[in-house]
Amino acid sequence: MKTGNDTLREIEVLIRARYPIIYILSWEEQRVLHWLMQVAKKRNKRLFEWSFSTGILEGGVPPSPQRIRSSTTKDPINALDEVIGQVEPAIYVFKDLHPFLTRNNFAVIRKLKDAANHIKDSYKTLIMVSPTLEIPPELEKDMTVVDFPLPEAEDFSNLLDRILAEVKDQPNVIIDIPPPAREQMLKAALGLTLNEAENVFAKTLVNDSRLTEQDIATIFAEKRQIIRKSGLLDYYDVDVEFGQVGGLDSLKEWLRTRALAFTDRAREYGLPNPKGVLLLGVQGCGKSLSAKAVSSLWKMPLLRLDMGRMFGSLVGSSEENIRQALRTAESIAPVILWLDEIDKALAGTRSSGSSDSGTTARVFGTFLTWLSEKKSPVFVIATANDISNLPPELLRKGRFDEIFFVDLPADNERPEIFAVHLRAHQRDPANFDLDLLAETSAGFSGAEIEEAVISGLFDAFAEDIEVTTRHIEKALRETVPLSKTMEVEIDRLRGWAEGRARPASSRETIVVERRRKIEI
Ligand SMILES: Nc1ncnc2c1ncn2[C@@H]1O[C@H](COP(=O)(O)OP(=O)(O)O)[C@@H](O)[C@H]1O
Ligand SMILES: [Mg+2]
Repeated sequence: MKTGNDTLREIEVLIRARYPIIYILSWEEQRVLHWLMQVAKKRNKRLFEWSFSTGILEGGVPPSPQRIRSSTTKDPINALDEVIGQVEPAIYVFKDLHPFLTRNNFAVIRKLKDAANHIKDSYKTLIMVSPTLEIPPELEKDMTVVDFPLPEAEDFSNLLDRILAEVKDQPNVIIDIPPPAREQMLKAALGLTLNEAENVFAKTLVNDSRLTEQDIATIFAEKRQIIRKSGLLDYYDVDVEFGQVGGLDSLKEWLRTRALAFTDRAREYGLPNPKGVLLLGVQGCGKSLSAKAVSSLWKMPLLRLDMGRMFGSLVGSSEENIRQALRTAESIAPVILWLDEIDKALAGTRSSGSSDSGTTARVFGTFLTWLSEKKSPVFVIATANDISNLPPELLRKGRFDEIFFVDLPADNERPEIFAVHLRAHQRDPANFDLDLLAETSAGFSGAEIEEAVISGLFDAFAEDIEVTTRHIEKALRETVPLSKTMEVEIDRLRGWAEGRARPASSRETIVVERRRKIEI
């Protein structure tokens, strides 16, 4: 995972290599400034800050009434002129310059381009700090984007110390956090900005004048809220045990083998962090179910990335949204990042360039690059029902560790699935003829098997008797499975998967077809 120190080093290299404009993406101006002050000191450069409300100011000087405000440089064009005029080695940090780079601001865009050209031959660097990414095409080649990582546990530790020092003399405040609880508390805050964490810590303190182990839950709850607010990510409450997935033995085996893959011990052993899997296959056969089950098996939180919102959001900001979501996921890692029905969301990439001026393709590109370069303990589980919308880049080697094909449950998997759903409704599978049910349900998906069990329960309940094999069998016979109506699609999917994807179950699916032989 990229740490604050890595980023600092990266920025320093960019400054030394004289990249003219560095665009730092972050909500945390103060933290970024703090880091940049260190770089400036180390490189022996002066640091200046610009914002529309203050103009150019000497950086790092605490705000005071005496602080000279340079009103002429409030105007971004004047400010950029001053940057060009300055002769000393310096770093200029422009806070929220991005609103001046939208389409109609051609004067500022042009001036920034002039500044970039000029800066290349100087010891000056221009750094933009903004929460959103907005680069006009004219400046694309002059700017380098750096994602500023969210705070680490250590940053929160310092913050907590500061807060505790502030309240320690207040008589009615009770602080009771033994070291293990403190560690959990700091971990719970991962994913928040420093400001957000400060608010959360303060809020828990103000609530009851106490900061104790119990507050960890509050911090988690607050974090959920904040992450949800950010738009694309959602903490998913997993209520699925691994044992609730019937069949799919090969997939399960693969996942079990990697259950400890994200521990320190695995790193010491020399193993890389697994990247992720793509589960491709027939609808209703346990892909989403497996994604949820991995979370309980590995005891890692599950973050769902809302694909529809990712591509559907306002054109222009989607790229920033995905970057932000990935950054948040990395800060919470080890975590499972679940992209459900990726094929639906990607339907647009193939035709990109027409409808949304390539935004979908760019957003997807950002994701793919992240996926292939990713070293962080973020395990991606993507699911897809169809391949025709999947861009070939996604299926290339090196993106996922494995592509699994999830077919209709085989003859010997269906009894297991019946058992799972009977147990889910407090029935003992031993009281049912599972072989008969399995035979009757040839060609049924897991979801259809579940529906038949429930339907059987309803019928028996209406008859006011205990459910039997007969009730479920009847429900099965009244159902036309999707595999009948979608035979062609499923065959095509199977054909594609052969040789390209690994079967999620080791057993051959035999779709028993009973054809009546007609003699003429
Ligand atoms: N292999 C299975 N074992 C047990 N239940 C299953 C299985 N496959 C599907 N189901 C049932 O069907 C429901 C829908 O399956 P889901 O995983 O959402 O399908 P998809 O493959 O389309 O993502 C599940 O919630 C589960 O109840
Ligand atoms: Mg699904």
